[in-house]
Amino acid sequence: MIAYGAMEQLRAKPGDPELLQIFNAHVANLGYALLLKRHRSDVVKASPQEIEATAWDTVPPVALLFWCFRIMVALGFYFIALFAVAFWIASARRLEQSRALLWISLWSLPLPWIAAELGWVVAEVGRQPWTIDGVLPTFLSVSSVSTTYVAISLTFFVVAYSTLAVVDVFLMVRTVRRGPAYALGLPADAYSPQRIGAARSSPAE
Ligand code: HEM
Repeated sequence: MIAYGAMEQLRAKPGDPELLQIFNAHVANLGYALLLKRHRSDVVKASPQEIEATAWDTVPPVALLFWCFRIMVALGFYFIALFAVAFWIASARRLEQSRALLWISLWSLPLPWIAAELGWVVAEVGRQPWTIDGVLPTFLSVSSVSTTYVAISLTFFVVAYSTLAVVDVFLMVRTVRRGPAYALGLPADAYSPQRIGAARSSPAE
């Protein structure tokens, strides 16, 4: 508040050495005065209640951050364990027989995306109420672009990327259904379990 008061007076008396000295001595706290603007525009006259409300603004939603962070880290360790087991089984050339591992791997596909979203929540919610920690509050740094423009561009991106996702999943499912034989120009049953089993039991062929 002292730095903010000095800054306001410097507007009237630019370069005043006494005001500059006060400003420089308290400039590290200027961000907190800007944070007060959410509760009062003339921050130098803020009441103790408004100062307390501003102090509480700096406390993040603890439960949300606590769980998002821990689930993200748990998923990180789960991935390390999953890859260690998969590496061990693949090294022993038992991947195709390990149905449980294949199923777990398949159902784990969305988990990195969930971990990334949780990490994003940790980073974005955790930094509130600051855009630059201790310097620039988020509510003072929001864009002047109107909500309508943001809604229009967001709708466009959601529609465009959702369409691409549907096309992508369709192509992937079609390729998986056709199997590796189709891609390699081999007979349709080239990779059937019976053929693979027969090739295993007579390796000389
Ligand atoms: C041992 C495991 C992990 C630890 C200790 C960890 C730690 C962290 C921390 C401390 C942050 C906050 C960074 C900040 O303050 O900006 C963060 C953010 C993030 N994490 Fe994790 N993380 C782990 C696993 C993962 C995994 C497995 C993923 C994704 C597959 C992930 C994706 C992210 C993303 C996308 C962010 C946001 C980055 C940003 O926007 O700046 N994390 N992580």
